[in-house]
Amino acid sequence: MTWRGRHIYLIGLPGAGKSSIGKELAALLQKSGYEFTDLDEEIVKSTGKTIADIFANEGEEKFREIETNKLLELSQKHFAQHPLVIATGGGTPLRAVNRSIMRGTGVVVWVDVTVRQAAKNVTSSLLAGETRPLLKSANAEELSEKIHKLLDERRHFYEQATMHFITRSPRGDERTPPELAQQLLQALEQMSRSIRLRPRFETFIAHSGMGDYPVAIGSGIAASELGASLRDMNIGRIVVIADENVSKLYAQKFFQRISAEYKGTLQISQIQLVPGEPSKDKDTLFDILDSFTQLGLSRKIDAIITLGGGVTSDIGGLAASLYKRGMPLIHVPTTLIGQADAAIGGKTAIDYSGQKNYLGTFYAPHLVLIDPIFLKSLPKRELNAGLSEIIKYGLIGSPELWTKVSKSVRRLLRGVDTGIEIIIRDAVQEKLKYVNADEFEKKNGVRELLNFGHTFAHGFEAATNYNQLLHGEAVALGMRAASWLSMELGMLDEDEWRQIEVVLGRLPIPVTPEFTADEIISAMNRDKKHQHDNHRLVLLESIGKAVVREKVDEKVIRKAIDFVVSVI
Ligand SMILES: NC(=O)c1ccc[n+]([C@@H]2O[C@H](COP(=O)([O-])OP(=O)(O)OC[C@H]3O[C@@H](n4cnc5c(N)ncnc54)[C@H](O)[C@@H]3O)[C@@H](O)[C@H]2O)c1
Repeated sequence: MTWRGRHIYLIGLPGAGKSSIGKELAALLQKSGYEFTDLDEEIVKSTGKTIADIFANEGEEKFREIETNKLLELSQKHFAQHPLVIATGGGTPLRAVNRSIMRGTGVVVWVDVTVRQAAKNVTSSLLAGETRPLLKSANAEELSEKIHKLLDERRHFYEQATMHFITRSPRGDERTPPELAQQLLQALEQMSRSIRLRPRFETFIAHSGMGDYPVAIGSGIAASELGASLRDMNIGRIVVIADENVSKLYAQKFFQRISAEYKGTLQISQIQLVPGEPSKDKDTLFDILDSFTQLGLSRKIDAIITLGGGVTSDIGGLAASLYKRGMPLIHVPTTLIGQADAAIGGKTAIDYSGQKNYLGTFYAPHLVLIDPIFLKSLPKRELNAGLSEIIKYGLIGSPELWTKVSKSVRRLLRGVDTGIEIIIRDAVQEKLKYVNADEFEKKNGVRELLNFGHTFAHGFEAATNYNQLLHGEAVALGMRAASWLSMELGMLDEDEWRQIEVVLGRLPIPVTPEFTADEIISAMNRDKKHQHDNHRLVLLESIGKAVVREKVDEKVIRKAIDFVVSVI
């Protein structure tokens, strides 16, 4: 395994020589297919504006957003086998999302120059007509001062690079870009095996009013990326919340690997939950909060990690959001439902007063790490149940995902294979569309569409005391009820309903739950998603197009439940 084929990101101060070294390095690596790209130049090309104009007219925050989008676009070329040497902007590594994108798709090299050298290079570039919005200075002394300040602010982020490349020679001689590129190439060849073997991953961006956060997906990334991210976040202690099953399977090995990657002393405490939905209750929530209090957690140096399925991320996320008004939080989901759905989007909850997800918050994590390797130990029934949430994304908004999943559902039901990673990636992108457009579910018919099938599902779960059907199984039945209802109301073509019924009918329901339409209706009427006076439901107009309907006739709802009862 080699580093070749991965992007090479050059990071460092303005004036470090990233572009001149990068061009030379790409030329040396031409035979391996490398090309050179300058991130700032790409931004100028695609926006038609200079960096200085963007800073002046739209502000730094907007520039950083544009920069992240461009970085993401360039990084994805990696997956199309076009490796790049990318000279980044001096401030690119400031955003966690950018650091994650770079770590996942390439080798990050900190091109480290002296402040004096950086100032000299910046001065030459300013004289050549370049504009550098953060380095507008009256004289050389002021310029050096500004560069010093930048270095102080950014050093911690530069230090997270895979490789620290010091450009000055031990004797202080200046070296030319071709010489430096040659040396960098040698250093890359000598990089240790453990660095070269680092798993690759893709990063997506979840937008949040509380701060955008990366959602990283890749096989084998969980421990290494978690260790690196904790170091990156300056976290010294973590509390890992996991249920007993997950803890038994993974805790020890996982903790050893995080610590190894963290490269320092990381304190790890663990809170174990009893597996299953009943743990999403107020007693468990307060037990967790008591443990936080006994540990004396601080928002500055401690972080909460949820390692597990949707139950763990829901209650762990809620506890993290409540304690001291919000602790740093990272989700490492280990079930298909967790990876494709629950860990993304910031909803946290416990069940209360007989009602599902009745108490909760919106609370954005700092990071979500999706590692499909965990799914290998997931019981088949859990895996099958998880497919329903993925099918849901296809039905409500993506005919492409629907086609993909419906074609592969039989194969997916046979067990985990490499194809699952691609399906999870598609599902995550779908979920992010809704979450990014309507984080707090305030816009009618945007994030709300994700509730397709769920009002029925919550009714099925409540009527069976949350102990017969898995959540995903209830969702599959709920979607069958909602699809039937859509067809019955003349909204959905009968032929499409049949196609849906065939696919959803393949998801096994290994129990025969006992319930009546009355029980389901009364449980639905209690459900907060249902708004009981109104009978507001998410229904389908076609495969890939969901809509919200109000005042759905209760008699037809009852008939839809009868239909489900007749097919299980
Ligand atoms: N917040 C959200 O946006 C959101 C979205 C969807 C679902 N949810 C919630 O998620 C919950 C359902 O999630 P779930 O299905 O992941 O349930 P879960 O967390 O109970 O996990 C299911 C079972 O799998 C076991 N398990 C987990 N990972 C494993 C692994 N890698 N190997 C072996 N066993 C493993 C667990 O111990 C548990 O017994 C529900 O409470 C639902 O309301 C929340």
